Amino acid sequence: MKMAVFASGGGSNFEAICRASEDSPASPLPVLCITDRPDAGVLGRAAARNVPSAILKPSSFPTTEVFAEALLETLRERNVDFIVLAGYLKKIPESVVSAFEGRMINIHPSLLPAFGGKGMYGDRVHRAVIDYGARFSGATVHLVDNSYDTGPVVLQATVPVHESDSPGDLAARVLLAEHQLLPEAVRLFATNRIRIDGRRVSILPHQTPNHNKQ
Ligand code: GRF
Repeated sequence: MKMAVFASGGGSNFEAICRASEDSPASPLPVLCITDRPDAGVLGRAAARNVPSAILKPSSFPTTEVFAEALLETLRERNVDFIVLAGYLKKIPESVVSAFEGRMINIHPSLLPAFGGKGMYGDRVHRAVIDYGARFSGATVHLVDNSYDTGPVVLQATVPVHESDSPGDLAARVLLAEHQLLPEAVRLFATNRIRIDGRRVSILPHQTPNHNKQ
């Protein structure tokens, strides 16, 4: 699987994916890192692991269509066939979503469909969870469709919300869960263990060697 990781921020999820690739041959190393921000921390992490990166800022392109073409061209150059959005804050153009239907995942720091949607990112999510009084939060890996945080759920993990939590406390706890969940989702796709049927995503069992008992 030739995977590109898109990130706008520090890139700790990018790092978690790279670490997993060191531990298991079933976990690929990204072939490309794409960001919209020249100052994104993920760029240093990509350089440290010799993963090529590209900075594509949507506002530098005259239209969304031209931006989409540039993205698709950059992905084609590296034969990318799978995309991970790991803290990428820009909307993916529809033509790119269509080109990667069923082959693009995002990680969101709450238990979707709760506390998702446009404008729900970073500490806003964790503040909303705390203000609501929820006892549990978590992380969701989902397929990307043309709306915010609405695609079919692939994996989820829960974490407790403590009464003394600040948004930062909760964010840190959720982030640790993300670092387990996202590499696990990547591994499942890379080993063809995901089947998508409408909104339902099934995880197929491990392929075991076929011992022929004749
Ligand atoms: C994560 O909480 C992710 O869920 C959210 O943005 C954050 C990215 O963190 N979408 P990092 O850049 O991977 O450290």
